[in-house]
Amino acid sequence: MTMEPLILPPVPGLRGIDVYEAHGGYGMLRKAIAMKPEEVTDEVKKSGLRGRGGACFPTGLKWTFMPKQTDKQKYLCVNGDESEPGTFKDRQIFELNPHLLIEGAVIAAYAMGVGTIYLYIRGEYNKWIAMVQKAVDEAYARGYCGESILGSAFSTSFTVHRGAGAYICGEESSLMNSIEGERGYPRVKPPFPAQFGLWGCPTTINNVETIANVPVILRLGWEAYSKIGHPKHPGPILVGVSGHVNNPGVFELPTGVLLTDIIHKYAGGVPGNKKIKAVIPGGSSTMILRGEALEGVTMDAEGLKAAGSSVGTAGLIVMDEDTDLIRVLTRIAGFYHHESCGQCTPCREGTGWMHKILKRFERCEATTADLDLLLEVANNIEGNTICALGDAAAWPVQSMIKRFREEFEKRVKPTLVIASGTPVIASGAPVIASGGGAYGATTTKQSGLPVVIASGAAGATKQSG
Ligand SMILES: Cc1cc2nc3c(=O)[nH]c(=O)nc-3n(C[C@H](O)[C@H](O)[C@H](O)COP(=O)(O)O)c2cc1C
Ligand code: SF4
Repeated sequence: MTMEPLILPPVPGLRGIDVYEAHGGYGMLRKAIAMKPEEVTDEVKKSGLRGRGGACFPTGLKWTFMPKQTDKQKYLCVNGDESEPGTFKDRQIFELNPHLLIEGAVIAAYAMGVGTIYLYIRGEYNKWIAMVQKAVDEAYARGYCGESILGSAFSTSFTVHRGAGAYICGEESSLMNSIEGERGYPRVKPPFPAQFGLWGCPTTINNVETIANVPVILRLGWEAYSKIGHPKHPGPILVGVSGHVNNPGVFELPTGVLLTDIIHKYAGGVPGNKKIKAVIPGGSSTMILRGEALEGVTMDAEGLKAAGSSVGTAGLIVMDEDTDLIRVLTRIAGFYHHESCGQCTPCREGTGWMHKILKRFERCEATTADLDLLLEVANNIEGNTICALGDAAAWPVQSMIKRFREEFEKRVKPTLVIASGTPVIASGAPVIASGGGAYGATTTKQSGLPVVIASGAAGATKQSG
C-alpha cells in the first residue's frame, strides 16, 4: 500500500511561504473563495474526511452544525493541544508544513462564515509555537489572513493561542474555557459548541491534522480523496509509532494500512526480533491489543473497532515480550489521575483509586480482591463523567484486565496454603513463614517474591508483617 505524501511531502524548505507558494500553496484558498461556502462544505462532506483528534467524527457534517443565519460572531478553534501520551503527529505539521494548516483553517473559516480563528497549541511546544507564529505572520503579510482575503469580501483573523500544559485543555469545551481565560474545566453538553461555544457564540473545533486535510481535498477533488485508504474512513493518516521499534517516528500512510505493516515495514520491526507482547494502537486511552491478535488489523475506525479498540490519535505504542505491562498501566493511570480536572467525583476519586490499586500490583502487594475492585472502579467511571477523560482513564484498565489478566494474577501477593489446602491470602508484606522448619514449609519463587507452601502435617502456617 503506497501513497505519495499529501500532508507532509518531502519538499525542502516547505515551511517558508515562498517554497509553499511555489508548490501551489494557497491555490486552494483561491479556489475556495471562488466557490460558494456551502459548496466547500459539501466537498469536505463528500470526501468522507473524519476528525483526526480522536473521535473520528465526520468533518463536513460537523461544519453543517454551524448556524448560517446569526448575529453572533462565529469561531473556529484548531486543536493543537496534542497531549495524549504516544501522540506527536500535529507537531510534524507545525514544523514541516504549517502553511497547509493555515490554508486549511482559512478555507474552513470561509466555508462556515467564521471571522475569528484560534489555533490552540500545547504550552510545552515552544519550538513549534515559534515556527507556526512565523508562518502566520507570513500569511498575514501576503493577504491570506486578515481583512479582504485575496481581495474578496471575506475577512478572518488568525491567532495562535498558547496553552499552559494541561491535558484536559485538549478537550474541546475545556479548550474554549482556556481561551476565554477561565479555568480549563470541561463544560456539560448540551449545549454543543456550534450553538454555545466561545463566549457563548457558535464555534467549531477541529484537530490540526483534520484541518490540514482540507486543501488536499480541494486539490484532489472529493472523489479521488475518498478513494484513498479505507472507504469508510478515507484519506492519509499520520501514524506516530513509539516504543519497541527500530525506527520510531511519524509516518504518513493511507488509512486501512495493516498494523503489522506499520510496525515491521515502516517502523523497522522490533529490536532483537523480539516478540510483540502488546500494542496500544491510538494513544494511551485506546484499548490495548495482544501481540498475537494483530494479524489483519487495520489502522482505521472500522478495523480497530472490530479488533476491540479504536483509532484515537493513531499514536501506536509497541511493547515487546519483556515489557512489564503492569508498570506501563500504572504509569498511564498516574497520568490520568494527575490530569483529571476534579469536577466529577467518579473521575476525580476513581482515577486516584485505580492508580493506588495498580501501585499495589506493581509492588506485588495486591490481593485477588483488588483485581475485582480495580475493574469495578473502572466500570463506575466509564460513562459517568462530564467529559471523556474519565473513559480515557477507564479503557486502558478495563482492556488490560480483559486481555492480560494473567499479568495481574502473577502480581497478586503470594497465597499461603495450609495443609488442609485452604488458601490464606497474605495481608501484610512481605510473606514470611514463621516456624517454617517446624511446619515443614518450603520456599519457592514467584514474581520475585517468596511463596510459602506448607507441606507438613501441622495445621497452620503463619505470616508476619
Ligand atoms: C481529555 C481529552 C483531551 C483531548 N485532547 C485533544 C487534543 O489534544 N487534540 C485534539 O485535536 N483533540 C483532543 N481531544 C478531542 C477534542 O475534544 C475534539 O473532539 C477534537 O479536537 C475534535 O476535532 P476533530 O473532529 O477534528 O477530530 C481531547 C478530548 C479529551 C476528552
Ligand atoms: S471526567 Fe474528569 S477531567 Fe472530565 S470533567 Fe470530569 S473530572 Fe474533569
